[in-house]
Amino acid sequence: MLHLASTTDPDWGTRALAHLDEILLDHAHLEKKAAGAAVTLLFRYPEHAALQRPLSELAREELSHFEGVLRHLARRGVAFARQKPGRYPGCLHRVIRSDPQHHLLDSLLVGAVIEARSCERFGVLADVLPAVDPALAAYYRSLLAAEARHHREYLRLAECFRSSDEVRTRLDEIAQQEALVLVENPPEARLHG
Ligand SMILES: [Fe+2]
Ligand SMILES: [Fe+2]
Repeated sequence: MLHLASTTDPDWGTRALAHLDEILLDHAHLEKKAAGAAVTLLFRYPEHAALQRPLSELAREELSHFEGVLRHLARRGVAFARQKPGRYPGCLHRVIRSDPQHHLLDSLLVGAVIEARSCERFGVLADVLPAVDPALAAYYRSLLAAEARHHREYLRLAECFRSSDEVRTRLDEIAQQEALVLVENPPEARLHG
């Protein structure tokens, strides 16, 4: 089960099909960002043994997804290029409290929510793509289990440091915030747009 406070409007899938290559470019960028976020936590918290191996494995898996998206971009004849940051990640990262008491918890929970939203949107893409690009539809279908697992893994890691109650309360707040970010920003041709 994905802990999200809203469900993506089915129109999003139609819009995504109209901007498929932009969505794919954004997706490649986001897989790289997901790996980078996990590695950043490894550098920031070397003293937390519970984080090291899971986040290292997660980063590697995200890079393998990055390579997978690059293959689909190449197949479609689209060159990878530098991506401008979208509004969504910036808005969401502002909910991470910077004080040492809360930074790790919030970082893990923002990670969990981003994984959940990505997973949900990959499901929408897997549903709308078969008629347009069956290989890409199958690829999105194949990513669902991994991204749902990343969502659960970030929650599990948060519970290594904080009580289940605290994790759940803060998760609910961050999920509400994430849903607000999606409705408050104008649509963009992005995975989280
Ligand atoms: Fe991924
Ligand atoms: Fe992921």
